[in-house]
Amino acid sequence: MRFFLSLISAVTVLHQTSALTPVGHTPSGKPMYVVPNKSRIQQVGRDLKVFAPNGTVIETFANVFPQRTGKRNPATLTRRQGLSNVAAFVPLNNTNAMDMLEAFNTTFTVPPSPTTFESQLLWFAASVVLPDENGVPMGELRTLLQYGATVIQGGPFWTIAAQFEWFPDAGGLLQGSPIGFDPNVDVGTAINTSIARIEEDFDPSLFWYEAGFYDDSDAFPQLELGVTEPAITAVIGMEEEGALQSSDYPPEPFRFTQTDLTLGGGFPEIEWDVESDPSAGAYVTVDVDGSKDAEIAIRF
Ligand SMILES: *[C@@H]1O[C@H](CO)[C@@H](O)[C@H](O)[C@H]1NC(C)=O
Ligand SMILES: *[C@@H]1O[C@H](CO)[C@@H](O)[C@H](O)[C@H]1NC(C)=O
Ligand SMILES: *[C@@H]1O[C@H](CO)[C@@H](O)[C@H](O)[C@H]1NC(C)=O
Ligand SMILES: *[C@@H]1O[C@H](CO)[C@@H](O)[C@H](O)[C@H]1NC(C)=O
Ligand SMILES: *[C@@H]1O[C@H](CO)[C@@H](O)[C@H](O)[C@H]1NC(C)=O
Repeated sequence: MRFFLSLISAVTVLHQTSALTPVGHTPSGKPMYVVPNKSRIQQVGRDLKVFAPNGTVIETFANVFPQRTGKRNPATLTRRQGLSNVAAFVPLNNTNAMDMLEAFNTTFTVPPSPTTFESQLLWFAASVVLPDENGVPMGELRTLLQYGATVIQGGPFWTIAAQFEWFPDAGGLLQGSPIGFDPNVDVGTAINTSIARIEEDFDPSLFWYEAGFYDDSDAFPQLELGVTEPAITAVIGMEEEGALQSSDYPPEPFRFTQTDLTLGGGFPEIEWDVESDPSAGAYVTVDVDGSKDAEIAIRF
């Protein structure tokens, strides 16, 4: 069986004077790092610092955030780079506290597996897009269900993860991985995910978001992100790499249900926009619109 591992390029990574070493690369070539569960990822000036749960800085990625130019870029598109993608999204206005994101919750049921496995990678995710200080999308915080393998986990079965990916320059991807955590989830399991704005004392001037899963056990991965600018887009969608035929996708639509987008002022009047990369063998439909109990399906 060929796992995705074998496709990861063997590019030598420039050695960094840091505690984190990439465990490998995403299909689009970004270095992937594993960080302890509940790590705190924080913007400090133009740098991105990663703090372990005990407060130790475990990595500094320098100059991830570009200098402020003074010109606002009104971009609100989902931007997502690398893997081809299919998405439904809501741009956020962020004019005042009433229309900033408070929580973005959704539920999905792990679908039957694709009937063929040829090292395709499928990511079904709920995400928020973060901008830099010029309004340009710079990263995405997400919870996801994965089919296929990355260097961190997986194979021809379903697993879950919390990730932060950033785009400037080569970009990178951090995945929170609890020690001893088994990321496998069974077909038919209902899973709730949430990306919520939280209060965080480490630097109250930042916008803090926590991405995680919640169920009765609360034993799933979590990541925390603190940045100077509030989230500009909420996204539900799929990214894929290497899916070549319909049997490489689940045999039935992938449904996100009970999708709640809560802003400071409560549930806004919204409609979901959709976007599909023609190279993906999938498209998205908004089956129930709005900010409360919305239903979005990825169809193959
Ligand atoms: C804090 O956590 C890091 C990462 O898990 C670990 O390497 C370090 O030893 C810990 N430090 C203390 C003082 O516990
Ligand atoms: C953003 O503002 C527009 C125009 O007032 C409004 O139609 C839309 O619902 C707002 N979006 C959100 C997410 O609040
Ligand atoms: C969203 O999920 C959070 C858990 O992170 C929960 O506290 C909150 O009540 C949920 N909000 C809605 C509207 O479901
Ligand atoms: C997921 O959320 C829904 C709606 O809030 C709730 O009814 C259900 O019990 C939750 N499932 C789990 C596994 O926590
Ligand atoms: C990850 O961290 C969160 C927050 O501390 C905790 O609730 C959860 O149980 C942890 N998960 C694992 C598998 O350790």
